[in-house]
Amino acid sequence: MTERAFPDDFVWGAATAAYQVEGAAFEDGKGPSIWDAFCERPGAVWRGQSGAVACDHYHRLASDVALMKSIGLGAYRFSISWARVLPAGTGAVNGKGLDFYDRLVDELLRAGVAPWATLFHWDLPLALQHRGGWLNRDSAGWFADYAAIVAGRLGDRVAAFMTLNEPQVFLGVGLLEGRHAPGLRLGYADYLLGMHNVLRAHGLAVRALRAARGGARVGSALVVNHHVPATASPADLQAARGLALRASGQDPWALTSWLDPMVLGRYPEDMLRDWHGQLPAGFEADLPTIAQPSDFLGINLYYGTVVRAGPDGAPQIVAPAVGDPITSCDWDVVPSIAYWTPRFVHERYGLPIVITENGISVRDWPSLDGRVHDPSRIDYLARHLLEVHRALSDGIPVAGYFHWSLLDNFEWAHGYKHRFGLFHVDYSTQERIAKDSALFYRDVIATGGRSLFERAAQRP
Ligand code: FCB
Repeated sequence: MTERAFPDDFVWGAATAAYQVEGAAFEDGKGPSIWDAFCERPGAVWRGQSGAVACDHYHRLASDVALMKSIGLGAYRFSISWARVLPAGTGAVNGKGLDFYDRLVDELLRAGVAPWATLFHWDLPLALQHRGGWLNRDSAGWFADYAAIVAGRLGDRVAAFMTLNEPQVFLGVGLLEGRHAPGLRLGYADYLLGMHNVLRAHGLAVRALRAARGGARVGSALVVNHHVPATASPADLQAARGLALRASGQDPWALTSWLDPMVLGRYPEDMLRDWHGQLPAGFEADLPTIAQPSDFLGINLYYGTVVRAGPDGAPQIVAPAVGDPITSCDWDVVPSIAYWTPRFVHERYGLPIVITENGISVRDWPSLDGRVHDPSRIDYLARHLLEVHRALSDGIPVAGYFHWSLLDNFEWAHGYKHRFGLFHVDYSTQERIAKDSALFYRDVIATGGRSLFERAAQRP
């Protein structure tokens, strides 16, 4: 690590998730997932689209790994489809499904790309939803058994496992708001039951992963409402920290309501004050199971909210100014989230941080010259990485960065409307084109981050 470079062992990655890229949704013995079912529901997904074919990555594994190699990617974060490995969620293993991930891992290693595997990125086997999904207390055991099967096969070669991706979203948007699979609109007490079971699932899975052979690092990947201070004043800083770490109210996004039990072995006090009576009876006895040692905390960063201290010191949200940058998803671009969130999270939990996702949706397309020009993605990437560097310079241990996403892909309820990839995908031919941002990232990786500073220095 120098003033103008990243540490030599910094992990330069890109990420995807099974349902968003694989396709082959009904092939080689894969069972249906809740997303396969949800996409058939009229009006659930933009233009009635689905991930049935997506980027056809299942059949293009070798050429997609070659794309990663072409930009010098150090690590690839992918997720494993539970229903591909266990078509009914529990019971019989689908050999062909496990073989696919086995080949992927080997191909990555041959290309010099470290495999980072997420066990669950939202595509619950439909058969398990029919048994109550995360509201069934047995779900934690189902997940741990699945984790043990995956770790038994891949654990000797995977660099890191993440248990769950953004539980706030798959429970909050899936069970409370109904905009994601399984499309339910339950009450907050049901959410708390699901949350408690998902936390138990995390704890039991971490145990199963650690019991398997191999030295893979173990963590998770959470999303947060990112709060950054309006100025460097201690009062604004305290106001932003206060909101970042708040767990009161009906807030499925609250970071501490997830990380406190996972890392500190307790629910946060402000959450208990509001919801104690509605957590499942006897929840205290499960806390030691939930709190298993993590090697890193993964955080997904996309947008942020600026906060200042009001006259009484209480946090006030500062509305974005007219004309401030937003992405095609209408997300506010606030690059300092890549400094403040790692800082707040590290201050509270003391663990290394990995940025497990960060990226931008841009309505880009191949130009007449055949190339895909995406200057706003380049700028987004550069600004966020410079903030990661600032965090590192202040001693915050950020071990790696995964850009979301390697490829344009199926963006859940938005279908293929949003493009997040470093590589453009033509869904009618499955042709991939390296966007300008992929080439930019290649140079960033090749120079250990030095090219970022050259870019910033070009400013008149
Ligand atoms: C995150 C998800 C990821 C992708 C990005 C844009 O919330 O984890 O699958 O959809 O948003």
